[in-house]
Amino acid sequence: MERPCLSRRLALLLPASAAGLGGLAACAPEDEGFGTAEPLRADDGAVPLEDVPENASTLVNFGGDQPFVLLVRGTGEDIAGYSGYCTHNGCALSQAGTELDCPCHGSRFDATTGEVLVGPATRHLPEVPVVVEGDLVRRDV
Ligand code: FES
Repeated sequence: MERPCLSRRLALLLPASAAGLGGLAACAPEDEGFGTAEPLRADDGAVPLEDVPENASTLVNFGGDQPFVLLVRGTGEDIAGYSGYCTHNGCALSQAGTELDCPCHGSRFDATTGEVLVGPATRHLPEVPVVVEGDLVRRDV
């Protein structure tokens, strides 16, 4: 049986004795997402629009706090952003086709809408404002 794991972020917040209780194990780095699918890296906080395929979803590392954002692009400049972090306990998600998978406790999200497909997460991925400026996509802060 696979043991549940704590995200590294959550494990750092718990006293050492609590992390060892209940058979919880700290997640290895590859368990925190992006173990097999590297997110697109944004240089200077932006990615070229041409690197974000139309009618598809792309994980992007924008840097800074909570860097991972799922970009969902229709055609042209029709583009939306969603948090790349699980709404259950905040683990970074990894993309597997049209789904985002949480390596910590198994939640899955629709990579085109942010909706929960499988719990324990119960809340959709929050939207992250993004903007197209010329031929670049950046977070709208
Ligand atoms: S953090 Fe628990 S399912 Fe994602």
